[in-house]
Amino acid sequence: MKFSRFSEQFSPDSGILQLMHDLGSAEGGAPPVAMLGGGNPAAIGAMESVFRREMGALMDNGRAFESMVGVYDAPSGNRPFIDALAELLRNQFGWSLDHRNISITNGSQSSFSVLFNLFAGESDDGVFRRILLPLTPEYIGYADVGLGDRPIFHANRPLIEMHGDRAFKYRVDFDQLEIGDDVGAICLSRPTNPTGNLVTDDELSRLRELAAANDVPLILDSAYGQPFPGIVFGDAAPAWDPGIILCLSLSKLGLPGVRTGIVIADPAVIDMITGANAIFSLAPGRFGPSLATGLVQGGEIMALSETVIRPWYEARSRLARDIANELMPDLPLRIHESEGAIFLWFWFEDLPVSSETLYRRLKDRGVYVIAGHHFFPGLDVGSWRHCHECIRVSYAATEDELRRGLEIIAEEARRAYGENTSGAAAARGAA
Ligand SMILES: Cc1ncc(COP(=O)(O)O)c(C=O)c1O
Repeated sequence: MKFSRFSEQFSPDSGILQLMHDLGSAEGGAPPVAMLGGGNPAAIGAMESVFRREMGALMDNGRAFESMVGVYDAPSGNRPFIDALAELLRNQFGWSLDHRNISITNGSQSSFSVLFNLFAGESDDGVFRRILLPLTPEYIGYADVGLGDRPIFHANRPLIEMHGDRAFKYRVDFDQLEIGDDVGAICLSRPTNPTGNLVTDDELSRLRELAAANDVPLILDSAYGQPFPGIVFGDAAPAWDPGIILCLSLSKLGLPGVRTGIVIADPAVIDMITGANAIFSLAPGRFGPSLATGLVQGGEIMALSETVIRPWYEARSRLARDIANELMPDLPLRIHESEGAIFLWFWFEDLPVSSETLYRRLKDRGVYVIAGHHFFPGLDVGSWRHCHECIRVSYAATEDELRRGLEIIAEEARRAYGENTSGAAAARGAA
């Protein structure tokens, strides 16, 4: 068998593939001691009841179930869902949009696969453009979606602000931000996966201005943010205008299995997404939009985000940080300020082994996390030790699982600090 060059795209070394494999093997094989690795949302009972109720309503509503499973949607996605969402966004935020500004995809990972290749790569004017990530660490899933062999990201190191002895926060380093003609779009997740960082309103408006001044779109990944699921603990205003491509998802509401992403953008961008839907998959799935339309129509999706989802994650984040600090007071651990999303970002300063080595040792003991270096798409991770000193820990697990996992992380980190540094340098080189 001879695969084409396209096959190189699906390298077994891809971080996102490793992550999804870990999730899959945890499902199929021996149960992990603690699954703190994947991006699965928490099983929040109150949300599960709402989804069950909505499914029941669909089943009892004439032929709604039969049409959901028996009919293709239009390539832009389910129209009743799109209309309900447009109305909600107009009413809540005064955004001037309608169905022409919205397209559905099969999960926002699919949205990024299309969007990045729309704005990055070779153009008719001969310029090879890239996606600018103004702040790393950034979402692991972006790393490998570029088609072709040339890297599609320009990425920036962040400024690091130390907060006391145990915390820190990344900030956009605007002095290093260069937007040349070879930038096709700017992209950031807000709140950020993996760090829980919330790019401030001020940073966001500077990025909006920079994008507008350079006539490139700002792709805003709000998989965890506003308007839903609203897993945001600090102050952050929801943002959209035609210069922003806002990417939403139903996954972190508690519905990753339905694979529904939402793109809100200028109609010219929506037409492209719609075309890609038709060509790659005929139409996006109808299950997620059908299930969620009732929640969007009445605005319940906003109330649930505000009164159930956000408080649940905020309390769990506090608990996870308290347990980690209680278990590791002797270790030089700093945790990134937890301002949203469902992860904690641990920085073990001067860790004598690479975070990849720590990841493997933890996995051998049944504890799944993600090694930090995967989260710097577009940066040369070999030249910055910091990338190898961090791990991402999900706190969406049950309290017991979280505690068990953190206990083993504490043991393995303590063991690593006990090792001599020459061995550590070799380990880091191998990462
Ligand atoms: C920041 C971010 N963006 C996008 C996605 C993709 O989400 P989905 O494809 O499930 O909609 C994820 C998934 O974890 C994410 O963390």
